[in-house]
Amino acid sequence: MDTKRWYANDFQQDKQKAIQSAAELLKAGETVAFPTETVYGLGADATNKAAISKIFQAKGRPQDNPLIVHVATPQQLKELVTSIPNYVDKLLEAFTPGPITFVLPSNGRCAENVTAGLDSVGVRLPGHPIALKLLQEAAVPVAAPSANLSGKPSPTSADHVWADLNGRIAGVLDGGATGVGLESTVLDCTQAIPIILRPGGITKEQLEEAVGTVMIDPGLANEKERPKSPGMKYRHYSPDAPLWLVEGPSEKLQKVIDEEMKKGHRVGVMAASKTVAAIEANLKKDLGANMETVAATLYDALRMFNEHDVDLILCEAFSEQGIGQAVMNRLKKAASDYIK
Ligand code: TXA
Ligand code: MG
Repeated sequence: MDTKRWYANDFQQDKQKAIQSAAELLKAGETVAFPTETVYGLGADATNKAAISKIFQAKGRPQDNPLIVHVATPQQLKELVTSIPNYVDKLLEAFTPGPITFVLPSNGRCAENVTAGLDSVGVRLPGHPIALKLLQEAAVPVAAPSANLSGKPSPTSADHVWADLNGRIAGVLDGGATGVGLESTVLDCTQAIPIILRPGGITKEQLEEAVGTVMIDPGLANEKERPKSPGMKYRHYSPDAPLWLVEGPSEKLQKVIDEEMKKGHRVGVMAASKTVAAIEANLKKDLGANMETVAATLYDALRMFNEHDVDLILCEAFSEQGIGQAVMNRLKKAASDYIK
């Protein structure tokens, strides 16, 4: 398949035309990758079963993993579900458009392969201007998982999408780098108290400030529990070389690096600026000075190591406060070992 690439940056004169062409393909039942404020999504018409199958095929995604449906307005969200608890109205007001997905009882309007047979559907209003414009133009709900090959780090640039999916999808809308850099928070809103199924762009602290008590799916913390969000059971986001998480001060990290280098291994390290400045390794990737920057650069760093010849990647373990919870959730899924 010949994959189209449209440039839709703010500086681009033909931005509107690019978005319209992408919307036409979506309406015609094709797959189009587009930027959101979290990561790039691979979209298709959520009401068209054949179109949705193309997403699973392009990504190599397991069929039992449901997709998030993207809409432009709260009204469109309401058209896909049977009921909405009061706290969701508050969260819509406080955080949308933005990086949060609401899992609600489905009314069956979406194709059955969107929800993977569940009686709930995940819906979100993305906060990226290109995504919102595309959704308005397409005028259909758009199901979109992250636009990467299944198991690979999620794409935070159109180049990442291109590297994974060129030739497998109808087009990519290039809107430059995404902002948050990690996926949306997935929130189960089918119960009296909301439950975080996947930590993400909106933190537990932010949610609790808006609506009081919020729970966390026990499956996230405890390996033995089955996660309620089907996608959370897979190993994910993995670079090609093994990744080890290392907890503790930079001296301890340096000790692990030295041991591995002595064995003749080429060691890559990713860490926050302060730690990077304090250590020596074959290859160092500075993730930034604060946790927001770490979140925004994490996936690019994981992909970057694939382009270099390293035998092992070490990453410092971060505090699980705020966005740190989402960062650590992704790192634990990507890592094969955790040195505490
Ligand atoms: O930020 C994001 O959410 C990005 C952008 C493109 O919007 N999308 C994304 O989609 O991360 P994906 O498919 O990579 O992850 C969707 C997650 C999976 O863990 C899936 O199991 C969960 O959401 N999910 C979707 N619908 C669900 C449902 N009805 N019940 C429970 N979990 C659901
Ligand atoms: Mg994904």
